[in-house]
Amino acid sequence: MASTNTAATGDPGSAAPAAAAAGVLVILGASGDLTKRLLLPALYNLACDGLLPQDFTVVGMARRQLDTASFRAAQRDDIRRFHTRRAFEPEPWAWLESRLHYVTGAFDDATAYARLREEIERVTAGTAAAGNTVIYLAISPEFFGTVNDMLDATGFTRRAGTTRIVVEKPFGRDLASATALNRALLARWQEEQIYRIDHYLGKETVQNLLAFRMANAMFAPLWHTRHIDHVQISATETVGVETRGEYYERTGVLRDMLQNHLMQMLAYICMEPPATLDPTAVRDAKSNLLAAVRVPAPGDVAAMSVRGQYGAGRRADGTPAIRYRDEPQVSPDSATPTYAALELAIDNERWAGTPIYLRSGKALWKRGTEIVVQFREGAGPGRTIGGEPNLMIFHIQPYQGVEIRMQAKHPGPSFALARAGMRFDYADTFEASRGTGYEVLLHGALDGDPTLFTRTDFVEQSWRIMQPILDVWESSPPGTLPDEAPFPNYTAGTWGPLEAQTLLARTGRHWHEVINREVLVRSPFFADAPPTLLNMLALSFQPLAVDPGTVVVRAGDVTGDLYVVCRGSLEAVDPSGRRLGTIDEGQCFGEMAVLQDRPRAATVRALAPCDLLVLPADDFRRVIADFPDAERRFREIAASRM
Ligand code: BG6
Repeated sequence: MASTNTAATGDPGSAAPAAAAAGVLVILGASGDLTKRLLLPALYNLACDGLLPQDFTVVGMARRQLDTASFRAAQRDDIRRFHTRRAFEPEPWAWLESRLHYVTGAFDDATAYARLREEIERVTAGTAAAGNTVIYLAISPEFFGTVNDMLDATGFTRRAGTTRIVVEKPFGRDLASATALNRALLARWQEEQIYRIDHYLGKETVQNLLAFRMANAMFAPLWHTRHIDHVQISATETVGVETRGEYYERTGVLRDMLQNHLMQMLAYICMEPPATLDPTAVRDAKSNLLAAVRVPAPGDVAAMSVRGQYGAGRRADGTPAIRYRDEPQVSPDSATPTYAALELAIDNERWAGTPIYLRSGKALWKRGTEIVVQFREGAGPGRTIGGEPNLMIFHIQPYQGVEIRMQAKHPGPSFALARAGMRFDYADTFEASRGTGYEVLLHGALDGDPTLFTRTDFVEQSWRIMQPILDVWESSPPGTLPDEAPFPNYTAGTWGPLEAQTLLARTGRHWHEVINREVLVRSPFFADAPPTLLNMLALSFQPLAVDPGTVVVRAGDVTGDLYVVCRGSLEAVDPSGRRLGTIDEGQCFGEMAVLQDRPRAATVRALAPCDLLVLPADDFRRVIADFPDAERRFREIAASRM
């Protein structure tokens, strides 16, 4: 980025950030949610960290009848709820509050814009803030067109000094509307004045993808289809649509998450490394990458995509969750997808032959955004001694870090391999305060640094890739594409539709559910486990989703894997067909085969769609050898079954 490029040129000592350029931030829609939940808390964080200039001022405008005093009073209350500091610091707030101003006005009323101009001129007169204006559209996209025209008609596009316009997502709802919006904006502003926001670019861990690609030469030769088997980019949420049913019904997951946030991460991970941190070089590299992503042919959409919608189930905390179609302001026969998984191909020299999988959904088992890069298996001796492909995992949130999963020799006289991990953990490495992600974006907009904002060509390329999928999905009701179940097709609180597993299983691959310690300790079974055991389990557990009726283990088999039930229930049946009992969420099964070194005594069959965690037999044996307490626990469970 322009303001911090000394760090990138090899002088990390001089990376201390400077305050943003003097300026005025004009917020249109200042009485709304975005302002109080994100923009003001971000400005407050910047103020606390000394990153706002002395000559800084905010002028808000919205329809709500407020004056500067009542606007300040409302924000004063809200900041105490929405700030992200460990403790509230009154002084920087008082400083920021004294710089807030408000004008009441409707977005289609020219006189309102005249009052806004007067107020801006009045509060910036004689200060360095005059001449650097950032206009933030914190408004519903239906007003974008009107506001754009009004800003031009009332002279904002022709003010002295620099003026920039910040546009929030959603940017269009398809290729045609995004292109039309771009045209409308470009008719009034120059490209370098238009700052399109994608809040994922404000996340430290997403920006770190750029650092990773540019500053760690040891990985550069590996970043090629020769070495990388495939890439998985997942952003899963446990929340449903909550109060946003009306917006979500019109939007769906493809528009809400994949077209923007996931494509941004894809671009950073797969682009050709730019030669410099110059904003044009970075944005060129990202756009070039999207231009190389194959636009799916309509006839291929069914095979490369999976859509889903959640049915009734449970939240992560165990309380009941309603189905999407029963959410407020959602149609009872809604066809809006709340889950999507895609397989994309990149037609360039670096990535030909390396599929890229994207997935995102609401009401899932776990909240987490991760990028997993799976390396190809070696042909050498590693295979013969039980080696596995290496993984590199970029943990974007909530856990933040980068991890390499590798093989190591397990301690002991025999030469056995075990999974091991190398981790860079943000919380252990940096002393940074928790932000909203908007700090760096506001700082960049005031400074005129567009690196973290989306350019016209990127947004259009991204819609071009999504458009055939949107078209096929919208013209074929859910359940009518080949091998597709009607909606709802996944239970709230699970790992999503089973078809998403099949998408990868076709080529012998599987999703890596990154099971971190926080997730494991949710199960009462692991709540008191020591950290070393949790680390080992987190590296070893593999997810397995099964349909009702699926036999998971069969009486007489000589397998020793251990299973933990995360969702659903199963029945155990003896070889004569007698039912021995059911196994429910939070319970485990399969431990006896290893503990007593004997074949499976019972058949276990799923009664409902189940999400299981599987601990492969070798890892299970190792747990028992290394953790006597865990063994005792398993023996107690086994005894209670007898
Ligand atoms: C927003 C979407 O852009 O991103 C929401 O509209 C989604 O539906 C959110 O929940 C996710 O953001 P984050 O930062 O929580 O991953």
